[in-house]
Amino acid sequence: MDKSYEMYKKFRGDAQAAEVENRLKDAARFNLEAARYLLKAAKASSGRIRETRKRQAGVLVKFADRLEAKAAKSKAAKNTAAGRPDTPVGHLEEPGKSAGSTGSPEAVAEVDLSSATFFPEPKTGITFDDVAGLEEVKREIDRRVVKVREHQKDAAELGLRIGGGMLMYGPPGTGKTMFAKAMAETLDAAFFHVKASEIMSKWVGDAEKNVSKLFEDASKYRLSIIFIDEIEAMLKKRSKLRSTVAERVVNEFLASLDGFSTEEGKRLIFVGATNRPWEIDEAVLRPGRFDNKFHIGLPDLEARRRILELNLEGRAIEDDVDLDALAVQLEGYSGADIRNICDHAAGVTFDIRMKEKSKKKISHKYLLDAIEHIKPSVTGEIVKKFAEWEEIH
Ligand SMILES: Nc1ncnc2c1ncn2[C@@H]1O[C@H](COP(=O)(O)OP(=O)(O)O)[C@@H](O)[C@H]1O
Ligand SMILES: [Mg+2]
Repeated sequence: MDKSYEMYKKFRGDAQAAEVENRLKDAARFNLEAARYLLKAAKASSGRIRETRKRQAGVLVKFADRLEAKAAKSKAAKNTAAGRPDTPVGHLEEPGKSAGSTGSPEAVAEVDLSSATFFPEPKTGITFDDVAGLEEVKREIDRRVVKVREHQKDAAELGLRIGGGMLMYGPPGTGKTMFAKAMAETLDAAFFHVKASEIMSKWVGDAEKNVSKLFEDASKYRLSIIFIDEIEAMLKKRSKLRSTVAERVVNEFLASLDGFSTEEGKRLIFVGATNRPWEIDEAVLRPGRFDNKFHIGLPDLEARRRILELNLEGRAIEDDVDLDALAVQLEGYSGADIRNICDHAAGVTFDIRMKEKSKKKISHKYLLDAIEHIKPSVTGEIVKKFAEWEEIH
């Protein structure tokens, strides 16, 4: 590995450390240095690596700008005595995202092909109010995580800490990802959103290194949520077919999970989501590994009404739209289905506007037609499979 690249890594490390300590000005400066060395390293390389390095250097420069701006802002806030020294640094936007489509987290990872670097996602603004239903899960998270975070002194006196692992399982489109995002928002936590398939396929051979690096990167923030989607892809049941790579990944994951759940002061929350929990290795599911397992099922009547309401908010709708009646009709549909139905009805209304040159609004009938047109994406068979799995876990 060339010298410039080593220097890049050193300065990136320094930058991350500075960020953690909220020394934002230093973090900005170190990131600029890192970008400078990365450009040098790009010049010394070729092909895809060269392009990725160049691109990533640009991303780092923008990120440094943001840090600089944030440093100025927090200084101003302190001067007005309104500063919040306790604010986690996690809400800094991820550098990969700041350069638009050219700078994905994957691009960041591609720079060092031996192990990935992970950055938190930018804030989404999604809150628990945007997530319909799932009241029990919300209550449990409020009790076990949000309150404990808010009342750290009481919690510490009683030996309680937040962190540990949770697993959300349920059919697709039921709000698992949304829920995790709302959690990060509510806790003001750095949100590391990773798909298991990315860890497994992009850097084959180094997959287990990616797992440990993910936990390591996340632990640099004051409070982090690691959210791994499609987690079954990473934690497959042992079988003759399972490769040694997969074996090592499961072991590394268990070690990381056990490690952070026992270590004092490290505030990491692990959230896994899956549409196929039955594919997960049983060893991973043993008590103590995931403190909480939540079945995220199809929305009930009230939740369906709320999802309709959320999705029709701000759209031009006729007075005849009867949410209660529609919610009844929507039995068996997922939240994602309901969103599709609203979009479909809006599309139809738009076509009519164009054709009639009118100011047509979305009517009850158009919504009913859309329900007719779009079938539930989750079958009764799948619902049953989840219920059975819930029984035994
Ligand atoms: N409980 C819910 N409340 C509000 N919207 C929902 C809910 N479930 C699903 N949706 C809608 O469906 C979309 C997809 O949900 P998502 O969280 O990605 O599902 P999952 O991760 O379970 O597959 C969301 O962006 C949202 O528009
Ligand atoms: Mg999802």
